[in-house]
Amino acid sequence: SIKAFIFDLDGVIVDTAIYHYQAWRRLANELGFDISEEFNEQLKGVSRMESLDIILAHGGLTLPDEKKAELAAQKNQWYLELVSRMTSEDILPGVANFFSQVRKANLLTALGSVSKNAPLILERIGMTEAFYAIIDGTKITKGKPDPEVFTKGAAELEVAPAECVVFEDAVAGVEAGKRGGMFVVGLGSPEVLTQADFVAPSLNALTVDEVLERFSK
Ligand code: BG6
Ligand code: MG
Repeated sequence: SIKAFIFDLDGVIVDTAIYHYQAWRRLANELGFDISEEFNEQLKGVSRMESLDIILAHGGLTLPDEKKAELAAQKNQWYLELVSRMTSEDILPGVANFFSQVRKANLLTALGSVSKNAPLILERIGMTEAFYAIIDGTKITKGKPDPEVFTKGAAELEVAPAECVVFEDAVAGVEAGKRGGMFVVGLGSPEVLTQADFVAPSLNALTVDEVLERFSK
């Protein structure tokens, strides 16, 4: 039976996906090219340095490691400027209600994000206490689509992967959950999140009972 829910952060709990996109786009523009929203789908859930590599390849640029470190730091600085204005008002619609149902159902909760900024964002929106375990970009060696971030979450909660449901908005994140042996609810478009067990537009469109029913055998 299902014992735990593991949540991605960016694009699931808060709409920071848009801030990541804005900061990357600003960087690409400074380098002399542009990135589209459609292109941005492949960056979701992907680590900072891997995202930079994908963007540079898109712009046809090859740069030395020191320069790349500089650009990644610049992007993060712009991202932090956007994030520093966040408050609990920025929690996505339906999240607070969904979490109160999660508590009533006595489910365990973990955060599974490859972002190194995840703890900072949780503090800003006042949701640190909503998670029994927090796995972020500082605790993993491989980003999504590798399952490490989710399997570490399950291990900290002391539950089996098959007892976990992952909530993800990213193609790479859905793949990570499936590779980890978990049930995966995609949040977004079914045409994009084709590997998910099922897809809903957002947590606002779901109830905990509905999710549990889907995965109870
Ligand atoms: C993921 C985002 O949660 O974190 C990605 O979906 C981002 O867009 C990644 O690149 C790494 O984040 P950070 O905050 O460590 O640069
Ligand atoms: Mg995400």
